[in-house]
Amino acid sequence: MSRTITVVHGDGIGPEVMSATLSVLDAAGAGLDYDQQLAGMAALERLNDPLPPATLDSIRANGVALKGPLTTPVGGGFRSINVAIRKEFDLYANVRPVRTFVPGGRYEDIDLVLIRENTEGLYVGVEHYIGMEGDPRAAAESVMIVTRFGAERICRYAFEYARRHGRRKVTLAHKANILKYTQGLFLDVGRELAGEYPDIEFEDRIIDATAMQLVLNPHAFDVLVMENMFGDIVSDLMAGLVGGLGMASAGNIGRGVAMFEAVHGSAPDIAGQGIANPTALMLAACAMLDHIGQPETAARIRGAMQKVLRRRETVTGDLGGSASTQEYAQAVIRALE
Ligand code: NAI
Ligand code: MG
Repeated sequence: MSRTITVVHGDGIGPEVMSATLSVLDAAGAGLDYDQQLAGMAALERLNDPLPPATLDSIRANGVALKGPLTTPVGGGFRSINVAIRKEFDLYANVRPVRTFVPGGRYEDIDLVLIRENTEGLYVGVEHYIGMEGDPRAAAESVMIVTRFGAERICRYAFEYARRHGRRKVTLAHKANILKYTQGLFLDVGRELAGEYPDIEFEDRIIDATAMQLVLNPHAFDVLVMENMFGDIVSDLMAGLVGGLGMASAGNIGRGVAMFEAVHGSAPDIAGQGIANPTALMLAACAMLDHIGQPETAARIRGAMQKVLRRRETVTGDLGGSASTQEYAQAVIRALE
């Protein structure tokens, strides 16, 4: 059975890592049809619009998109296209799997998932200056928005994710000891929901202690859920536990629409050279396969990547090897079982 997904190759190294990823998906026999669409600089140049309506219509119709990195044009009043897509489809859950793929890092066998609320908190950007005694910028003020609706849908997503993926525990990280209203509401909602999921262990922890524990003993965690800014910071900390952003992928999930991407950008410094590491986008593609109900294919691709990365013979320059993007992809294809 085949599923149509929207594919956006993206800018810079995007087309290189995307074609490597699609060749692995095809070799693994993923049941996918590709609806190729433009966004970013490529769309600006060809269609004079960095986010063409046809691309949005395609994502809406297919419900699933695999997206390469998009360069945000500097100047000209363009806002981030990534943010625009997130807003258009209300992609409220940012899902960041964190797994050890290359041995010899700080820890072995890390397998965590961070679920970050992506629409509320301080990042709504409700800010202003306060003038005093002739100084128009004597102070600045920012508003943290937490709604019961927003807290409930992200916490529910975390519990449902845990259940669907056979995970044992959800940790809600917060700062309700200081921010008693905003963080208190988030915590209360999480605790209430936990009662509906007796099969999933639930704990809550203060965010700063969580950060320390993640560094000291990451194996104590499984699925983590938190508000927007905490999630932004902690997701990068967690990527650091397993070898950095080159290995990091993200799913942006809404109701009926999900978009999967690498966390890194378009890497203009190495674009066009055929040397970019496609691992992060391949991992995003695996998360996408999990999402659309093809977890066996995802597991096979992850297993093949793991073998190639562990052997360290055919890896790209950022991992200390000398393989090209395509050579690495071919090695992954040969390692598929
Ligand atoms: P970047 O992630 O593109 O690059 C940072 C450094 O990491 C560079 O030295 C680059 O060569 C290296 N790098 C990144 N991905 C790599 C890969 N797959 N293999 C090997 N090396 C890799 O971040 P930067 O330079 O800040 O942003 C460049 C552009 O990308 C900007 O226009 C930015 O707006 C955009 N961007 C887009 C994102 C998205 O579409 N989700 C996310 C982050 C940035
Ligand atoms: Mg960030």
